[in-house]
Amino acid sequence: MAQIGGVQSWCLGVTLQLILAAVLHQGLATVAPPTTAQTTAAPHKAPGRPEKGNYVITRSNGTACLLASMGLQLNVTFNSVSQNKTVQDVVNLQPNLTKASGSCDVDRASLLLSMDAEKTNLTFTFTQNTTTNKFHLSEVSLFADWPDMREPVSASNRSLDFLRGTSGFSYMCHEEQTLTVAQDLSINTFQLQVQPFNVTGDQFGAAEECQLDEDDMLIPIIVGAALAGLVLIVLLAYLIGRKRSHAGYQTI
Ligand SMILES: *[C@@H]1O[C@H](CO)[C@@H](O)[C@H](O)[C@H]1NC(C)=O
Ligand SMILES: *[C@@H]1O[C@H](CO)[C@@H](O)[C@H](O)[C@H]1NC(C)=O
Ligand SMILES: *[C@@H]1O[C@H](CO)[C@@H](O)[C@H](O)[C@H]1NC(C)=O
Ligand SMILES: *[C@@H]1O[C@H](CO)[C@@H](O)[C@H](O)[C@H]1NC(C)=O
Repeated sequence: MAQIGGVQSWCLGVTLQLILAAVLHQGLATVAPPTTAQTTAAPHKAPGRPEKGNYVITRSNGTACLLASMGLQLNVTFNSVSQNKTVQDVVNLQPNLTKASGSCDVDRASLLLSMDAEKTNLTFTFTQNTTTNKFHLSEVSLFADWPDMREPVSASNRSLDFLRGTSGFSYMCHEEQTLTVAQDLSINTFQLQVQPFNVTGDQFGAAEECQLDEDDMLIPIIVGAALAGLVLIVLLAYLIGRKRSHAGYQTI
């Protein structure tokens, strides 16, 4: 009987491992980001994920007033000289070649990123409503004068409503987010965290997470809960089984 008990628990152990492996594999498969098919028509190969840059704007007294940490990818439509047609070019910002400057006012803060000896200027302007203490990204403008452009691209939009947050908190979005600025410009952001107002010290305040991240977090939570339930059921079955075989042993 003791022999059978041992075999039984060994079987249970193996079954449990198999179930765990199956569920985990399933979970991971669901969590893995969907591979976006690249359009074959795209003339340029899309670059990989952009490197994350950390940008700080300071007041004249040296204290930080705007913090931003993000990977940026520009998607610009322009008239190509080499291809003699309109093309979409996707370009990653390289943080080590990017200079940050800007300004901070009570209700307006801006971050200007300059690259390639000022051949690319990208400006983000945040607006704060001091009554409601809410902020958002209200303006984006890009000036780009790249070698293959027939004429420089100048795109801007002053009526945007992206990255909505609360003053004193930071806005965070780990997931890729696309900010559509104009017909010829969209910006993909990666692992973004910004705090354009009420910065204390040089650290981000508590983060308000974007909806995309919250949706993403839901899957592991559901998988975790399902796993916990499964483990409990298997454990109960095992305990009941053990009690039975034990009782059987005693009567013999
Ligand atoms: C760039 O923009 C075009 C059209 O606006 C879109 O079809 C394409 O998927 C975008 N590429 C990336 C990498 O975001
Ligand atoms: C780009 O920004 C720099 C400041 O960093 C400025 O001096 C320059 O004039 C800007 N270039 C254009 C074309 O706007
Ligand atoms: C701030 O928000 C309030 C309430 O939504 C609105 O009435 C007011 O016009 C806003 N102020 C500014 C400057 O946008
Ligand atoms: C500016 O952005 C708004 C909101 O996304 C959009 O409705 C509008 O068409 C944009 N304006 C231009 C000139 O692209």
